[in-house]
Amino acid sequence: MARDALVVGGGVIGLAAAYRLAATGASTCLIDASGTRGASWAAAGMLAPISEAIFGEQDLTRLNLAAVAAFRDFAAELLELTSMPVGLRTEGTLAVAFDADDKAALGRLTDFRASLGLQTESLTGRQSRELEPYLATGVRAGVLATDDLSVDNRQYAGVLRQACELAGVEFVTGQVTGLIETSGRICGVTTEDGRQFAASTVVLAAGALTARLVDLPIEPVKGQILRLAIPDRLRSAGPVLRHTVRGIVRGTEVYLVPRSNGEVVVGATSEQQGFDVTVTAGGVYELLRNAYELLPISSEFSFVEARAGSRPGTPDNGPLVGELRPGLIIAAGHYRNGILLSPLTATAVVRLVAGQPLAEEWKAFHPQRFAR
Ligand code: FAD
Ligand code: GLY
Repeated sequence: MARDALVVGGGVIGLAAAYRLAATGASTCLIDASGTRGASWAAAGMLAPISEAIFGEQDLTRLNLAAVAAFRDFAAELLELTSMPVGLRTEGTLAVAFDADDKAALGRLTDFRASLGLQTESLTGRQSRELEPYLATGVRAGVLATDDLSVDNRQYAGVLRQACELAGVEFVTGQVTGLIETSGRICGVTTEDGRQFAASTVVLAAGALTARLVDLPIEPVKGQILRLAIPDRLRSAGPVLRHTVRGIVRGTEVYLVPRSNGEVVVGATSEQQGFDVTVTAGGVYELLRNAYELLPISSEFSFVEARAGSRPGTPDNGPLVGELRPGLIIAAGHYRNGILLSPLTATAVVRLVAGQPLAEEWKAFHPQRFAR
């Protein structure tokens, strides 16, 4: 039986796309090999168009800004549908600087962000500690971005799965090994155990593994990440960490993302290691040391988990969303922003399946820009 749509990949990109497609009435099947244990499970869940805006990535910043607005609406829609919250936090990001060089670098980034019209507030070290009293006394300056959000990415993935089920998405466990083509059009996939699945449109949302199925430059960028928990004895005295805190410690970026359940996510390394997802002693050491430098009280937190995931990296750090060949839509390569971009990507996929043009902010992200 041919479905309207077949989505390959059950991370947040595939789940959000499958939900949106099914909600428009398309018969939709999602095939995944591992059960949502890709990058979407490893991620920190920052929805941070402002504090991730860097020089030379103006198109991506524009896309990320549209995405954060879409995320708020999507979270409300999912809550209405499933009665399950996604763990959205709205306190914003506090970026901090330690020494004179950090302060100068943060100042340059803040000027650049202001030139794009992004709202931030510059703070002294003392003002930063008024917002986050446990910050290291050495913090010299801060910049607050109140429009950045964060989400509990694992809770979000669970809510998406529930939304898919309510919308009638069919779930299949299997490793897709090939695309089926008839008369120049992709019309299905094959799995490693020899099964075939037919569909009018195939949506490839296989994260860092997408390039195993099509010739596109999507490559894994390893990120090691920790989950710590604030002990009750500290939490009972009041909030220990309210904002996402980011900083550069001796040239290495680190971030701490608080969760409403008392956990704190500390991330992340950025390594070109192929598909290796080993957690290394050096990676854990670096993250704990840097977290301690920013927030000394973190040494009293309990250790919950260390893991690594593969970010789907691309040559220009932007996603690949568009029709690559007749019947084949790519929704991959979301690199550091896939959680943030998932609702906007899902809407784009629905438009592509319907043969409609994408919104202006997608213009720079067509997969054909890299087709080899
Ligand atoms: P994935 O979540 O990797 O899912 C791909 C799925 O496809 C997997 O379940 C896999 O099993 C399946 N699959 C692959 N190949 C096949 C096949 N052949 N057949 C069947 N199934 C297949 N983003 C943010 O927005 N904010 C953050 O704060 C953030 N922090 C991050 C921190 C770390 C440490 C990492 C690693 C990433 C972070 N990201 C963040 C990036 C984000 O996690 C990714 O961009 C996003 O999860 C990509 O989602 P995806 O659905 O494309 O891929
Ligand atoms: N966006 C955070 C990360 O990729 O580590």
